This record gives sequence, C-alpha cells and structure tokens, in this order.
Amino acid sequence: MIIPVNLGINSYDVAVGKGLLESCDKMLDLDRKVAVITDEGVPTEYGMAIKNMCGEAYIITVPQGEESKSLSALEMIISTMLEKGFTRQDCVIAVGGGVVGDLAGFAASVYMRGVDFYNIPTTVLSQVDSSIGGKTAVNFNGVKNIVGTFYQPKKVIIDPDVLKTLTKRQISNGLCEALKMASTFDKELFDVFENGDPYGRIDEIIEKALQIKANIVSQDEKESGIRKALNFGHTIGHGIESVKSGDGMLHGECVGIGMLAMCSDNVKDRLKSALKKLGVNVNITFDAEKAFDAAIHDKKSQGSYVTAVLCEEIGSFKFTRMDFDELKRRIYDLSHGGDLN
Ligand SMILES: NC(=O)c1ccc[n+]([C@@H]2O[C@H](COP(=O)([O-])OP(=O)(O)OC[C@H]3O[C@@H](n4cnc5c(N)ncnc54)[C@H](O)[C@@H]3O)[C@@H](O)[C@H]2O)c1
Repeated sequence: MIIPVNLGINSYDVAVGKGLLESCDKMLDLDRKVAVITDEGVPTEYGMAIKNMCGEAYIITVPQGEESKSLSALEMIISTMLEKGFTRQDCVIAVGGGVVGDLAGFAASVYMRGVDFYNIPTTVLSQVDSSIGGKTAVNFNGVKNIVGTFYQPKKVIIDPDVLKTLTKRQISNGLCEALKMASTFDKELFDVFENGDPYGRIDEIIEKALQIKANIVSQDEKESGIRKALNFGHTIGHGIESVKSGDGMLHGECVGIGMLAMCSDNVKDRLKSALKKLGVNVNITFDAEKAFDAAIHDKKSQGSYVTAVLCEEIGSFKFTRMDFDELKRRIYDLSHGGDLN
C-alpha cells in the first residue's frame, strides 16, 4: 500500500507492506554515500540489510533510549558524516524507533543545510506516528524536543515484519499513539481498541493511523491548525514523561495517561478501559508540581496558557485555550493515581 503525503514540492510516499525492508533498493536512491543511523537496541540485521544494498554506507549506532535525542549524539553523527566526506548529494537513513527517527531527521536537516532523508521505522510508535510529518528534534536542558526542525523525509518505508523482535510493552506503547488518533478522529478505529483485539489487528491499525496522520499533515504541515489535534494528551503527557521516564515509563504510555485529563467523563471511562487493555498502568502517582513545570515549558505553551485538545466524544476533538491554573488543576487531579480507579 502507498499512502501519499501531499505537501507540494515536499510531497512523499509512505510505502507499507510486509517484507519491504528487503526490497528498499527499488524505492530509494542508494547510489551515493549513505549514513544509516540506528541504535544499540535495534536488531543489527535491519541496518545491515540496508547497508548491504548500498555501494558506500556507514552504520552510525547511538545508545538506545531518549538520552540519544541530544546535541552530543547529533554532533557524533555530523562529525562522522564530515569525516567520511558526505556532500549535499548524499543521504541519511533512519533505521529504528522514534528516537532514531527524530535524531537522524534532525541531522539530515542541518548537515550542509539539508541532505535527503529516508525513514525506515522499526517500532509501532514510529510506524503509526513519528516517521511521517517531518518533525525532527533533540532534547535540551531537560526540555523535550526543544531544538528541532520541520524537515520532511523523501520516503518512508514501513515493514510490519520488523515488529516481530519488539517487546509486547513496546508494541502497546506504540498502540497508545494510534489510540490517540482513533479517539480524536476515527470512532471505527476506536472500536478496534475497545471491542476488538488490537494486537491481532495491528497491520490494519498501522495503515489506518498512517492514513489519518498523512491526511492531517497534508492539510497542515507546520501545525498552525488541525495538526495540533495530534497533540491530544501530549502537553500533560510530556510533563508526566519528564518526571516518570526515569521510572521506565514510555512516551506512548505517558501520552495515554495525559489524554485522561483532557476528556469528558464518558470518554475517560472508555479510554481508561482501552489503555488498561493495552497493559498501561493508569493509576500512577507522580510529582504534579514538577510535571506542571515541564508541561508549561512545552512548545505548545503560549505565555500563560496552552492550546489544549479536548475529546468530549469519541471520534471528535475541540481546541480550547486553557490557562495555567486550569492545567495545573488537571495535572494535580491525575497525579494522585487512585482517583483514576
Ligand atoms: N517526530 C514525531 O512526530 C514524533 C511523534 C511521536 C513520538 N516521537 C518521539 O518518538 C520517541 C519514542 O519513539 P519509540 O517509542 O519508537 O522509542 P525508541 O525509539 O526509543 O524505541 C524503543 C526501543 O525499542 C528498540 N527497538 C526499535 N526497534 C526495534 C525492533 N524492531 N525490535 C526490537 N527492538 C527495537 C529501541 O532500541 C529502543 O530501545 C520519543 O522521543 C518521542 O518524542 C516523535
């Protein structure tokens, strides 16, 4: 299946299909120097599969985890590309999850003011969400995604076969981002989470989530309007992530819990059940003050308020201007854990 992202001269295709990793050379221009960016947790066979299709490729491996979305990891990639003589005609390929995709995309966007970037996402989260749309970033001074660019890939290749090596928790983590899209845009997709078997229907979920995201990004590349709806759960989710990632909580899980603070009671009950079905512990406790501080440093904050995305009915959303006091109250309500039982 080919899903187009229509952005004028920045348009590109997302190719989705089992086994595509093995035939990437038919879809990518690999007749040049290629920097394959991956991390230590991604099975080496995926990066090697790409390297073996190239004439001159260098695999650059960063440590796994969010810490690699850093200026020092960026520096390491840029130094290697410079040392190996990469020019503007060469390219960068991300082979990994959202961390690798965000970092590699950022490196591609700034090296010599921009070289071609291909994304081959290998986690559910990156396949349903982060690999398309062109947001690249690293974290800085404890603030998530604060240094970055909008830089569209030239092609995205999604092979669900690579998910076979992923842990169930990482699969669930990615499904949380698809649940976010279902909650706000697609009640039929929500039904798969609520009444179906999301793990058994993962290929269908990936395709539907990609179609939703491609459609939204095509309408609003730089997030001045409808694309903000994809931030449902994220302002508070990023706040929770900043205080709980040290305890091993994952991005999608934090976003999932963040959604619970931004919906009607009815939607909250239904979302909670869907999250529990994905194995997410919705009863966490956390330091609300610290999470609030992190949330208001989020890019979605505008001085004394945030543009919050509310979901009052499944399959729909609305934007609201939420002042910091209200945001804080919602974060405090969430932070006691037991209230959510
Ligand atoms: N750019 C965007 O639009 C966007 C959207 C959502 C999230 N994000 C970012 O994505 C990041 C989270 O991405 P993620 O959840 O993919 O995490 P991740 O990239 O850290 O990957 C999770 C773990 O899985 C391992 N892994 C990757 N592929 C594997 C495979 N096929 N088999 C076995 N292990 C594998 C990785 O080594 C890592 O340890 C966050 O930094 C978040 O901010 C970006």
